Amino acid sequence: MLLPILCNCVIVLVLIIIKQQAGVLCRSKQEQKSELKSELKSELKSELKSELIQLVNEVRQIRQEIEEIRVKKPKSAIEKIKITIMSLSDDIFLNVLRYLNQIHVCRICTINSRLYNLGKIKLYRCIYFHIRSLNTIHISANTYTSFYTNFTIVNKWNTFPWISENSNITLVKKMVFRVNGLLFDIVKTQYPWIEVIAEDQNGYYHSQYPLQEYHYTQLILSRRVGIPFLNGCQEMPWVKKLTIYLIVVPEQSLNEIKYLSGLEDLGIDVVDTDDLEELCDIGLGDMPIKKLRISVSELIDMEELQEITEIFDLEKITMFQLHLWDEDTYPENFNSSIQKLLSALVNVTSLSIICQNIDFEKVLESMKPNSLHTLHLKIVQVGNDIHTFQLENILNYQEHSLRRLYLSNNKQRDKTKMYGLQEFERIYKKETKPLIPNQQPVGIFEIRRMIDAGKFQKLNRVLINESCYFIKRPSNGMIHLVPCNSLIPDNP
Ligand SMILES: *[C@@H]1O[C@H](CO)[C@@H](O)[C@H](O)[C@H]1NC(C)=O
Ligand SMILES: *[C@@H]1O[C@H](CO)[C@@H](O)[C@H](O)[C@H]1NC(C)=O
Ligand SMILES: *[C@@H]1O[C@H](CO)[C@@H](O)[C@H](O)[C@H]1NC(C)=O
Ligand SMILES: *[C@@H]1O[C@H](CO)[C@@H](O)[C@H](O)[C@H]1NC(C)=O
Ligand SMILES: *[C@@H]1O[C@H](CO)[C@@H](O)[C@H](O)[C@H]1NC(C)=O
Repeated sequence: MLLPILCNCVIVLVLIIIKQQAGVLCRSKQEQKSELKSELKSELKSELKSELIQLVNEVRQIRQEIEEIRVKKPKSAIEKIKITIMSLSDDIFLNVLRYLNQIHVCRICTINSRLYNLGKIKLYRCIYFHIRSLNTIHISANTYTSFYTNFTIVNKWNTFPWISENSNITLVKKMVFRVNGLLFDIVKTQYPWIEVIAEDQNGYYHSQYPLQEYHYTQLILSRRVGIPFLNGCQEMPWVKKLTIYLIVVPEQSLNEIKYLSGLEDLGIDVVDTDDLEELCDIGLGDMPIKKLRISVSELIDMEELQEITEIFDLEKITMFQLHLWDEDTYPENFNSSIQKLLSALVNVTSLSIICQNIDFEKVLESMKPNSLHTLHLKIVQVGNDIHTFQLENILNYQEHSLRRLYLSNNKQRDKTKMYGLQEFERIYKKETKPLIPNQQPVGIFEIRRMIDAGKFQKLNRVLINESCYFIKRPSNGMIHLVPCNSLIPDNP
């Protein structure tokens, strides 16, 4: 590049010198000038031309490189841009499926074969068998309690269809039976790798197999079933839940309860309140018990019931259930005793009371105002008249905190059903009377009136006489009562 420029300069200089010194030359100055000009022009032209050619070549090369990049790496780059939901890993899908109930998992299974297989893993992992002919559990797309998302629920199975070969059985990790029985025993023998749990013991059936293993987190203690200790192992802090059938449980077994140092949830079934005395010296007050349920079938006197305040550290309790099924006349001081008991439960947010019709308005007054978010009241009916109550007055003090409400003064009681706070988790099918399909409990109209008046703004679920409703508040200011255990679209 430099060379032609230098040459140029030399030529120009030479020409200038010639021009200055050759005044004597014969040609005119004008001629010389124009000659010089045209020479310079052609020099510059060729120089520019070569530079342009070089530039054009450079541009070409850059273009080619760009093209090469485009041709060589295009696939991975484009793939990255085209991420779809199916690009997610199996683990993520399985995690998402954990939040769905069985109806929605089944729907997802129909999308493609990959989701079919992942859905199957979720459907078979934990199965709940409710083998009862009455009160089947209601299964629907819109129920999303953790019971419905944790388990695939199977109602009314009297024979077990998997005794012969089924490739899906290897996917099962856990089976929970409402009560033990023949099916429980079959599963225990055939599929030893499955964790098999009976929530309740069937008093008439003698299982060939132990109801519980030492690593279980939920246990039963009764006359027949003890706490399964492993040799030498004493503390069992992994046990979170215990149900005691306090009918002739040997004293030694009761003393073993203290080794369940992580116990949070305790249920006690007693025939009469006298039996509670046996629990006095175990040290239950020092255990981390937060959920307490006491079911009594015969109420003898209130002093025995008051022992609850001494046996437990009631300040720790957040969920309390007192179930009195006795139909005999209550002792004189019943109302005031219950009131005293409830006033000691300062940290309770979920309360269930099953008893005869008492002055609930007065009794519930002893709870801290707006402290309850779940209330379950079932009135045990005695005699032929239905005992009614003033719904709004009962709930008055809890208006701003209440989220879930159960109220029932139905006459019938089904002894095979588990009553209590659990009824919010597991929704039982509504009995449908074919002749009057749309009949609603009167209480639901009262609820409607109260929420329409702008009260109970946090309330999102009500069960009245076992009819269940979701309270939906879409942003347009409307309030809908959507039935959750009937397929009839009634909306009062
Ligand atoms: C469902 O599973 C979760 C997590 O394991 C557990 O905390 C919850 O208590 C379970 N609910 C029921 C009803 O079993
Ligand atoms: C395994 O489960 C799927 C989905 O529930 C079912 O269609 C299939 O028949 C089962 N396999 C056997 C061998 O029963
Ligand atoms: C229960 O309530 C008392 C007094 O209201 C409070 O001091 C205590 O921290 C609470 N305990 C728990 C476990 O929430
Ligand atoms: C409890 O209160 C109710 C309603 O006021 C009353 O009818 C009943 O007699 C009382 N029961 C007792 C045992 O005091
Ligand atoms: C529940 O049903 C009974 C009839 O069995 C009825 O008298 C009562 O009013 C109902 N309760 C509510 C709260 O609707």
